Amino acid sequence: MAKLNLDDLKKMRDEKRREMNRRDTDKSIEIIIGMGTCGIAAGAKEAFDAFVTAIDASNLDDVMIKQTGCMGFCANEPTVEVRMPEMPDTIYNNVDATIAERIVKEHILEQKMVSEYVFDKPSVDIVDGQ
Ligand code: FES
Repeated sequence: MAKLNLDDLKKMRDEKRREMNRRDTDKSIEIIIGMGTCGIAAGAKEAFDAFVTAIDASNLDDVMIKQTGCMGFCANEPTVEVRMPEMPDTIYNNVDATIAERIVKEHILEQKMVSEYVFDKPSVDIVDGQ
């Protein structure tokens, strides 16, 4: 193994802190990714990594990323549920890295659902004009 210098160690420490921070359960925004066998086979790991990258890039501190098992929607994997204040709980399907980036930008930052990938649409009386 190559020798680590002080900068390498600081980088590792910061990355670990960010990783721990993302798992902190005291966040108001949750991204829950179905990572059962069929989710992983459909690309849930790539979606997970894309969420992590997009959240870090946007400096979003109040977001927790969780993985869960089978969400029961085999044909629609990868599936992702987003829960946050001011928005209805929403399940997205067929989430690849590009859609993950859009969910962070549009759903979380702009509070607009990425309509064409919504699997479980909230009732229209809950969401006005979506
Ligand atoms: S095994 Fe595919 S949704 Fe459960």
